[in-house]
Amino acid sequence: MEKLIINGGKPLRGSVSISGAKNSAVALIPAALLADGPVVIENLPHIQDVEIYVELLQRMGASVLFEDDWMEIDSSAMKPVVMPNGHVKKLRASYYLWGALLAKFGEANVGLPGGCDLGPRPVDLHIKGFQALGARVENMNGVMTLRANRLRGARIYLDLISVGATINIMLAAARAEGVTVIENAAREPEIVDVATLLNNMGANIKGAGTDVIRIQGVERLRGCRHTIIPDRIEAGTYMIAAAATRGDVILENVIPKHLEPISAKLREIGVVIEDGDDNIRVIGQEKYQAVDVKTNPYPGFPTDLQQPMTTLLTQVKGSSIITDNIYGSRFRHVDELRRMGASIKVEGRSAVIEGGRTLNGAKVVSSDLRAGAALVIAGLVSQGVTEVEGLEHIDRGYENLVGKLRNLGADVYREVLKPTKRP
Ligand code: EPZ
Repeated sequence: MEKLIINGGKPLRGSVSISGAKNSAVALIPAALLADGPVVIENLPHIQDVEIYVELLQRMGASVLFEDDWMEIDSSAMKPVVMPNGHVKKLRASYYLWGALLAKFGEANVGLPGGCDLGPRPVDLHIKGFQALGARVENMNGVMTLRANRLRGARIYLDLISVGATINIMLAAARAEGVTVIENAAREPEIVDVATLLNNMGANIKGAGTDVIRIQGVERLRGCRHTIIPDRIEAGTYMIAAAATRGDVILENVIPKHLEPISAKLREIGVVIEDGDDNIRVIGQEKYQAVDVKTNPYPGFPTDLQQPMTTLLTQVKGSSIITDNIYGSRFRHVDELRRMGASIKVEGRSAVIEGGRTLNGAKVVSSDLRAGAALVIAGLVSQGVTEVEGLEHIDRGYENLVGKLRNLGADVYREVLKPTKRP
């Protein structure tokens, strides 16, 4: 077991290089299985979700080379083996194997996904999409079994805007017979990233990034090379940390356009943000303005930054409200922030924050990936020492977090806890 030890109260200063997007990586890796030849993906982050995916693909017989930020995937020797719950439960995005294996083999037997505990995370829209394309779907003791003799294009309206369902249907439809139209599609940049890879492999996908995506199925897809987009959620996390510690940080390797929802809200609070071509500078200020934040699908404010933003708002005098319209119970970080002295009340899907109070270092536990980010930022702004446990969550989505924070002047290190000897 490990924990982070953070000695807070120091403003973050300097520059940080943003890694490849986690929520692209976990979709691009299964998408690569659809090619008849090797696919090379560059700018991959070394995070747990990527490491787990490598193991999953290797268990199914794919050849995967992964060094530095470069991965080559060759699925020519793959078999459609059953992937039980054990491994796939470690990450939410294992569900992309359903769409990829269905398209490649006409069948998939993969356990239901795991991932962060953000409340109920149904997959009914994924299943609706696969059935519309002609697949038979059964849930047998937690293993999703999908079969299709031939996938045929269909018009699919998503009742809810779902990133995962949009991508999964795109994967299944890429080699289906005929045209598939996804209506009310999610518009996240990661969806555009997956469509770009598939089109580079020879697919015919138009409209990714809008709410209507048109996929003309093709017979074969070939190997290619692709570079992942930067991680807008990692970037937003560092932007919020710079604002909260009243620091001055330049983020390198970003796409400012993808960060507009975060930049706009930070500017409303009073943070100075300077956009470059592929960088962004965040300059904290002494005086901030309390604000209301509502999370929405892209290009709205991202739910994944709701928890880090809550920590920033504890440092803003006055009463702020943050409402999560995507996950109504994504508030398990609040109890831990209260232990550090924050005044936050959760009402339904909103948190009301009475900001401007000093936080004090404490022992806290991260319950999920972005709650962990919120607690790390709280440790950075607190007086005294904060210990953050539950690093297995944080390691899923933040590459080299300690190294990057230390380069920005933070006093943080990782302590390996010796297992307590049984008496
Ligand atoms: C993706 O999850 C991200 N994960 C999440 O990031 C992110 O919070 C979420 O999109 C929303 O932006 C990955 O990309 C791996 P959804 P996903 O389908 O695809 C409901 C992180 O911290 N829904 O867009 O699972 C669902 O319950 C993670 O990096 C259904 O009802 O999310 C939610 O309320 C956490 N039925 C809403 O839709 C379905 O079949 C949006 O979910 C699917 C989803």
